[in-house]
Amino acid sequence: MDRNEEQLKAIAEVKARNDFECKKTGVRKLYFIETHGCQMNEHDSEKISWLLESMGYHETDDKEKSDFIIYNTCLVRENAELKVYGQLGALKDLKRRKPELMIAVCGCMMQREEARNVIISKYKHVDIIFGTSNIHKLPQLINRYQKTGKTIVDIMEDEKEIEEIESNRKYSFKAFVDIMYGCNNFCTYCIVPYTRGREKSREPESILKEIENLALQGYKEITLLGQNVNSYGKTLGYKYSFADLLEEVNKIDGIKRIRFMTSHPKDLSDELIQAMGNLDKVCEHLHLPVQSGSNRILKMMNRRYTKEDYLLLIDKIKKAVPNIAITTDIIVGFPGETEEDFNETLDLVEKVKYDSAFTFLYSIREGTIAANMENQVPDEIKHKRFEKLLDTLYPIFYEQNLKYMDTVVEVLAEETSKNNENVLSGRTRTGKLVHFEGEKDLIGKLVDVKITTVKSFTLEGCII
Ligand code: 5AD
Ligand code: SF4
Repeated sequence: MDRNEEQLKAIAEVKARNDFECKKTGVRKLYFIETHGCQMNEHDSEKISWLLESMGYHETDDKEKSDFIIYNTCLVRENAELKVYGQLGALKDLKRRKPELMIAVCGCMMQREEARNVIISKYKHVDIIFGTSNIHKLPQLINRYQKTGKTIVDIMEDEKEIEEIESNRKYSFKAFVDIMYGCNNFCTYCIVPYTRGREKSREPESILKEIENLALQGYKEITLLGQNVNSYGKTLGYKYSFADLLEEVNKIDGIKRIRFMTSHPKDLSDELIQAMGNLDKVCEHLHLPVQSGSNRILKMMNRRYTKEDYLLLIDKIKKAVPNIAITTDIIVGFPGETEEDFNETLDLVEKVKYDSAFTFLYSIREGTIAANMENQVPDEIKHKRFEKLLDTLYPIFYEQNLKYMDTVVEVLAEETSKNNENVLSGRTRTGKLVHFEGEKDLIGKLVDVKITTVKSFTLEGCII
């Protein structure tokens, strides 16, 4: 039996069991999925959801009521890891009260033997453990667990085999599309290359087919996902670049906006900068993680660019794409970071004038090169610098947003506000979050909004 047949057989068997139960009890089996970490994980959860729904499970946001709880985990920083252990600990009691409850843990944490062993030895109420490369096997794993009652651990250590799994997408108008998996960069602080394996690009035909299908279903915005999208195509075996892919996606009727995540400065080519300037559907937003403004620290991080290289790129992109929004990731307190190094970061953020930034305290990840570096920065200093960085960044975000005052922007309406049913929120092409009054039936549509109020993190306005 090939893998696909095995999957279909398992889906049919689990579904038959679920349907039978449903006939008996009158209620569907419910699943609850919690996702930590990046957009790649969010998209993996959409694939897991699709597999579960095809087996007859329905989603719930009430953990207590669910029959199957899945944690899709992240390993990038220690906090994310500790949170999972805390949550799993809290489930012991629920499992005692409800022994038929199934619990699964998957995602990046499970790709690490050390983390896996902690779960296996200390959290015995976890029933199924799987990784980031074998999501397609979930039906077989559930089936095996239901038949044997034994804990299932199934991880593929080697490189990702590219598997096409459909997704139960969260929105009906914007979608994530994987274009590559893994990472070859080995930034010295980062665990990702050890968990998600080597870089591998998906074939352009299958990416384009997926996006064409999305367009036919009415999707307007797509976000191309990869750890390092700028090096897309390198593993294909023929000449095909990320700019080539963008050009093809730009031709697809129905798609109005193209976004992508994440770019590495060392691979941001002039060809791509030109493509961003020329292709009308590619949004005026670039997320370009800088991590630090100090050349000494950048070298120790193995980032392979200098502060000057980065500023030059910013200059070029601002010239090629007027009004572009630039966002970034910054790590504070990398081993050996001095006050002088940190000041270089402050200087860089002033020069770039970021629209927004994700800021992180350096977190030791065992197994990475930086974990064994001397001169780890004491927590107290890390926190002080972190606060100072935010104090520098927030006024810059506000200053950048002020440029939108009294202008009219195109917004893709995404959802109603949590606090007020009559208020919608959506994003501009530049990625700014906008709140405005409007009817629910505008969700999924592009609307023109005049900005009347500006804050550091959001804009407010009214439809014109
Ligand atoms: N400590 C703190 N931040 C980290 N990141 C990756 N690894 C670490 C770490 N060990 C941050 C980087 C990266 C983002 C996704 O997470 O800024 O760009
Ligand atoms: Fe981690 Fe660097 Fe790869 Fe990004 S580029 S996933 S930070 S190793």
